[in-house]
Amino acid sequence: MSYNLLKGKRGIVFGALNENSIAWKVAERAVEEGAVITLSNTPVAVRMGQVDELAKKVNAEVIAADATRVEDLEVVFSTSMDVLGGPVDFVLHSIGMSPNVRKKRTYDDLDYSLLEKTLDISAISFHKMLQVAKKMGAIADYGSVVALTYVAAQRTLFGYNDMADAKAMLESIARSFGYIYGREHHVRINCISQSPTQTTAGSGIKGFDSLMDFANRMSPLGNATADECADYCITLFSDLTRKVTMQTLFHDGGFSSMGMSLRAMDQYEKSFDKYRDENGNIIYG
Ligand SMILES: NC(=O)c1ccc[n+]([C@@H]2O[C@H](COP(=O)([O-])OP(=O)(O)OC[C@H]3O[C@@H](n4cnc5c(N)ncnc54)[C@H](O)[C@@H]3O)[C@@H](O)[C@H]2O)c1
Repeated sequence: MSYNLLKGKRGIVFGALNENSIAWKVAERAVEEGAVITLSNTPVAVRMGQVDELAKKVNAEVIAADATRVEDLEVVFSTSMDVLGGPVDFVLHSIGMSPNVRKKRTYDDLDYSLLEKTLDISAISFHKMLQVAKKMGAIADYGSVVALTYVAAQRTLFGYNDMADAKAMLESIARSFGYIYGREHHVRINCISQSPTQTTAGSGIKGFDSLMDFANRMSPLGNATADECADYCITLFSDLTRKVTMQTLFHDGGFSSMGMSLRAMDQYEKSFDKYRDENGNIIYG
């Protein structure tokens, strides 16, 4: 259902790879809500992914760019302003990748040159995006910028590895740049901390299926889907949230405020079944 929340707005959506991508859903919802947009992803993703299919569907130009390269980002913002007819009103940063996770390096055996890549792709690219946009006057006053993050920035979760450090930095950039961009141009910058979601990036995390199940059992409202995340992004791009900035906003069904739920405890106790005697007492020996 459309509420015309983004009628007349222009935006850039970074990070749509395939129809599971959170950015894919955001692009579809933004256009449904009346926005005109451009799409951006790496040259490889544009070649190998399904971005062109999405572009046709939402009538958007695709601008290939590696978000770690300032020159590429300059092209994304200048082309977007040309194509869309002026500075943009919203930007989605939906980019994340850890070469250490890909190469199965554990957190106590990181390759440091790969760590630099993780941070550059998943966090510093956000700073580069904001700095380029600000210098070019590419985001209109009262614009809104959203980046996607994960609760592992605050709490340690098995397997999230150096992405946890990247997300902590990403959230810090949202605060530090949010102050400056807000003060000078009323541009707001927020992070949405999303539930584990079945996407290409998500599935790279060790034990992802169990993590999703655990998070779902722990969350009173259950895991938030990519479609629901897109809905939340739309509210942040809309004029209904003009005083929300520099926040990490949890979109996780309540997971981040939980300690233990009945549903999770119930599942947890099942794992002790084989260690019970005939009276139901747990045998630890
Ligand atoms: N899936 C989850 O469980 C989950 C949970 C919380 C937050 N997030 C975050 O959501 C965001 C989107 O991920 P997703 O789950 O939709 O997966 P996805 O794999 O569909 O999207 C990740 C995107 O990052 C792009 N990317 C990688 N390197 C890049 C670079 N150098 N320049 C530009 N783009 C680059 C990829 O091409 C891809 O489109 C990420 O920031 C991710 O960390 C995901």
